[in-house]
Formats: sequence, structure tokens, C-alpha cells
Amino acid sequence: MIKAIKVNKPEPISSKKSSLLFDDSSDVKLTIKALEQGKSILITGFFSNGLLLLNALKKHLNKKYPNSTFQEQRNYRAAYFKLSNLILIAIVDYKLTVKKAPVIGWLEQLYSENSDFLLSFPQIQGLNSAWQWYKNGILTPVLRNKLQPYYGTYFPTRFDHLIFFDNWLKRYKGPKKSVIDVGIGSGVLSFQMLKYGFQKVFGTDTNPNAIVGLTEFMGSTKLARKIELDFDSLFGKFNFPVELIVFNPPWLPQSHALDCIDEAIYYNENLFPDFFEAAKQHLLPEGKLVIIFSNLAQITDVTKEHPIEKELAEGGRFQLEKCYRKTVKKASDKTKRDQHWRALEEVELWVLTHN
Ligand SMILES: C[S@@+](CC[C@H](N)C(=O)[O-])C[C@H]1O[C@@H](n2cnc3c(N)ncnc32)[C@H](O)[C@@H]1O
Repeated sequence: MIKAIKVNKPEPISSKKSSLLFDDSSDVKLTIKALEQGKSILITGFFSNGLLLLNALKKHLNKKYPNSTFQEQRNYRAAYFKLSNLILIAIVDYKLTVKKAPVIGWLEQLYSENSDFLLSFPQIQGLNSAWQWYKNGILTPVLRNKLQPYYGTYFPTRFDHLIFFDNWLKRYKGPKKSVIDVGIGSGVLSFQMLKYGFQKVFGTDTNPNAIVGLTEFMGSTKLARKIELDFDSLFGKFNFPVELIVFNPPWLPQSHALDCIDEAIYYNENLFPDFFEAAKQHLLPEGKLVIIFSNLAQITDVTKEHPIEKELAEGGRFQLEKCYRKTVKKASDKTKRDQHWRALEEVELWVLTHN
């Protein structure tokens, strides 16, 4: 049976919703007051009018929450989120109705059933930047073809861990019949494995957009015969042992980021115990379990616990074949405080085998 997959996307707002209108002749202060009273504002005229109002809102909130304490930053973000999402923009026939607006292909692809609706300005900005990534593609140092990340799918923006994995694959001498890629995302690790001659990849993801995006991307090309997908957690329907299991999991524990539950970045306390338990059943006797990780959570003091070290120490299921570590290059566009820990950040490639 084929599972019905519903992609994640911003919920369309009825175009009948009554809103105050805003253009470049409107009074900005009065408009912000109206937002604070919970009224929604419809951008008219030019797309840039929306940007103008958003910038004015940012300035206003910066004055209201001037301190850089954690709590005040949180209040600022919460207020910005609430008010900016009251700023709306109309879409008719998959196009923004304002002038000089960007063309966003996702409007037609994701909303084919509604051709007349509203979205908030920040949602439009999100769709627009995702469209740019998709349209332009992402060139990585490990693949000849660009990645085309579907809307709402995790994709790599730094490549150290991909180069690491590539070097490991280059030296890998084991059988290459079948592999399971847990949390396949944009498919980058699977494409790397196919490049090195793996015959069949089984990929899962709990994010519907990753599965729908990859299915569309592969279409009826020969890739579609080499990668089989399942929209499910961990190993999904792939109930057989393979010679290689690969997982690039979320790197940060969720409990410390309750206001953000992005499953590509934050893991809950069950993820690793459940993963290792299932991996034990899905790995052939001579198979290898490869996990990409980072010490990010530890060096930012989010947790002292390292889920892979914990498994090796307490799980009794796997033993360490090798752990490769590499310092990540400093990100140049970060603040000084960030650079302090970025200098120490390492990506890790863990290779485990059965005990
Ligand atoms: C850090 S991303 C890695 C994506 C891709 N493999 C890569 O290396 O770029 C983690 C991925 O795991 C997925 N994920 C999180 N929890 C999962 C689970 N329990 N089962 C399957 N996939 C999961 C996320 O949706 C996300 O696509």
C-alpha cells in the first residue's frame, strides 16, 4: 500500500479575511499600532512595501526590547514572530499580486488546489529563499551534480562531514550490495554511496518533504531504481539486514530548545537508544554502522552527554572500529563569541561493528 504523504507548507489563509491595506503612502506608526492590536495588514502596491513595514517593525521592537539578555531576546523574537505574521500578501494564480515581486515556483507546486489565497510576509520570504536554493541548486565538493533541496528539507550548508564520509567511502573495501540511509534528507549521502558503486540504497525520513522531494527529483530516471524510499521513522519498512547503515542524525538535544522542534537539528531522548536497538537487528554480522556527528552540543555546553559514546560504554551492542575527528574551519561571518567555540568544533565520523 502506498502511504499518502502530505507535505509541510505554510497553511493558506482565506482571501476573504478582512485586513487594513498598507502601501508606501500609509502611516507606518499607525500601522504598527494596528498590528499590536492584533489587526492584520495587507501589503498592496509594491513588494518592497512589505519589506519597508517589516524593517520598521524590527526597529520598533528593538526599541521596546533594548537589552541583550536571553529573556529579552526571546521576547523580541516572540513579538516579531507574532506581529510580522499579521502582515499578509495576496496570491492569485500562483503569483503575488504586488508589483516587482519575486517569482516563487513553490506557489504553483505546493498550492495547486488553491489559486486565490493569502500568506504572511515572512512565510513568503521563507518560500522565496527556499525557491532560490532549489532553482540554483547546491554544488558540493563531493558530487558532480548539484543538490536540489525540496521546500522544507534539510540540506548541507557546510561540507566538512561530506568530505570526511567521501574519504571513508573511497577506502571502504566491503561488499556494496545494499545500504540503509536513515534520515536521507536531500539524499546527499545516498548519492555519494551510489558514486562509489553501492548497488541499492534504502532511505527513510520522518520529514514528508524529504521523501516527496527526492521522489520528484528522481522521477523515472535510473536513480529511482537505485534508491527506495519510505516515509517513516528509523528503518521503516526495510526489515532486513544490510552491510552498511549510515545515519547523519540531528546533533543537538531537544530538551534545551523547547521553542524549536526541527527534527533535522534536534533529537529527543529516545532517538539514539531506539536507533541503536534497531540498528543491531538491521546490520549483517560483518556489517558497518557509520554515524556522522559533531561535538557541537558539548562545546556549547548544551549537554555533557555524547549519545554515541554513551551507547559504546553502556549499550553492549556495538564496538568501536574507528572514530575520525576533524576540526571544522572557522565560519567567517559569525560573531566573536561564536568564533570562540567554532574554533574548537569538530565533525566526527564513527564506524561501529557488532560486539
Ligand atoms: C541532519 S539531517 C541529515 C540529512 C542528510 N542525511 C544529510 O546528511 O544531509 C537529519 C535527517 O534525519 C531526519 N530524521 C530525524 N529523526 C528521524 C527519525 N527518527 N527517522 C528517520 N529520519 C529522521 C530529519 O528529518 C533529517 O532529514
